[in-house]
Amino acid sequence: MTEKKTLLLEPTEKNIKTAGRILSDGGLVAIPTETVYGLAASVWNEDAAARIFEAKGRPGDNPLIVHICELDQLDQICFPNWNAYKLAKAFWPGPLTMILPKKDSVSARITAGLSTVAVRMPSHPAALAVIKAAGVPLAAPSANLSGKPSPTSAEHVMHDLDGKIDAVIDGGRCEVGVESTVVDVTGSVPTVLRPGAVTRQMIAEVLGSAQTDKRADAAVTEKGAVPSPGMKYRHYAPNTPARLFCGSPSAVAAEMAKSFTEKKSVIVFEEYVKMFPGALSFGKSWDHAAHEERVYDLLRKADGQGSEEILISCPREAGAGAAAVNRLKRACGQRVVKTGAFAVIGVTGPSGSGKSTLTAYLRAAGCAVMDADRIYAELVENSAEMNDALKKAFPAAYANGRLDRRVLAAEIFSDRKKRLMLNGMTHPFVARETERRLSALSGPAVLDVPLLFESGMDRLCTCTIGVYASRKILAERIAARDGLTEEQAALRLSASRTRKWYADRCEIVIGNNGTEQDFYNRIEDIVKQEKII
Ligand code: TXA
Ligand code: MG
Repeated sequence: MTEKKTLLLEPTEKNIKTAGRILSDGGLVAIPTETVYGLAASVWNEDAAARIFEAKGRPGDNPLIVHICELDQLDQICFPNWNAYKLAKAFWPGPLTMILPKKDSVSARITAGLSTVAVRMPSHPAALAVIKAAGVPLAAPSANLSGKPSPTSAEHVMHDLDGKIDAVIDGGRCEVGVESTVVDVTGSVPTVLRPGAVTRQMIAEVLGSAQTDKRADAAVTEKGAVPSPGMKYRHYAPNTPARLFCGSPSAVAAEMAKSFTEKKSVIVFEEYVKMFPGALSFGKSWDHAAHEERVYDLLRKADGQGSEEILISCPREAGAGAAAVNRLKRACGQRVVKTGAFAVIGVTGPSGSGKSTLTAYLRAAGCAVMDADRIYAELVENSAEMNDALKKAFPAAYANGRLDRRVLAAEIFSDRKKRLMLNGMTHPFVARETERRLSALSGPAVLDVPLLFESGMDRLCTCTIGVYASRKILAERIAARDGLTEEQAALRLSASRTRKWYADRCEIVIGNNGTEQDFYNRIEDIVKQEKII
């Protein structure tokens, strides 16, 4: 292939027009999207599509995604169904790709001979503007060399494709950072073929049900039939061999420490960075948005360190964790180290949300239950060490020689500083005792911990679930349960967290605003579909 000058363009109005012209003339332009950069060509130009495969070194049997900027373009390329319209309404523009029956107008080069086509409407304003300026839908895979980590900045694109394509629009770093969710909506049950920021659970909430294809992150094989050709290839891989450590964040850090030497690169959660000199931070262990946003950049950075091996902390996998973990498993091939034999499910949420219903369900499914409030109460009875510490800080609560929990509760109720101090003193004792009890178990466990993240006890968990209901419903439930007025109940809730707070941290959030039966059905769907036990 002849080398050409690749223009690096800011997304100004003039440059967007230039990009549109290059594309309608059959050229190739890399465009920013909210997920990763895409290498675009006009969907109606077969030769241009062929040049995409050539520039990326992409196998011809791996089809491209068609990008549109308005819903009217959808039926130029496929036969949408009712499920597709419902998902489009919920998630477009955004990181969701749908597989639909293709129209004859779309070349077999783009769909690799399949009878279906992949379509998405990205949300990045520069992507939408370029599609509009080109005046045609754009076929675009990720703008990396085939098999390498996807590009999340213009610099990554230039690194892989400078001299091979006509232009790159520099739209800064990609907000999401991993490729879109791919969902096949041609059948009766929508099926996720590639996990992304739109989770299986989010799709199930719109369509009533959804499943993840079991091959979505199966070991890569180039043999046998797969529902999505991309599943066959070892994707997203750095050149340096990489090993993935799976389990609870604390067990993972301990296991990685055993393999660490100065010759290795390390990608580890923020909480454990200090254990590994020179480590790259993946963000907090619960922060799935950060893991997605950073994963490809970190793989490229670690690869550039010239080390002999890359050791990687694997995020928790269920729900919101699935996308980053899927990419990491593919980047590491078969090199996965599992720590901890059993699942530990952390359940959290405000009072009245339904934590106990969920905990009871998981108990019936075979989990041992550990209740942090109860462990705390037992430590108050039995732990001289914890009582010594508390006595120094809260002498008034020990007026009768023993801790009077009601006096202590009254003292901290309206004093935030004291409350934080008490929690800071007791949480390590409760966490240590919980960890001790967990290590004695011979099966999975569920931890019922109101302050799961504040206490750091989420680090003992292989999955976290937040249960939430609206303020109004929580207040009604607490009032009915504890014989309070709704105003009194609302006051108790004033310091509690919002749904978003839980959604930002937990792999799974279950809304419980409706009937008990609805809640039960949601729990059942999640336990059946997500890898939590
Ligand atoms: O976020 C994204 O989806 C990015 C940006 C640029 O939009 N694009 C992207 O494209 O990731 P690419 O080509 O790297 O991945 C497309 C995936 C592949 O795994 C491919 O096998 C699958 O979609 N795919 C495409 N057409 C398909 C079809 N008709 N049936 C099943 N899978 C299909
Ligand atoms: Mg790709």
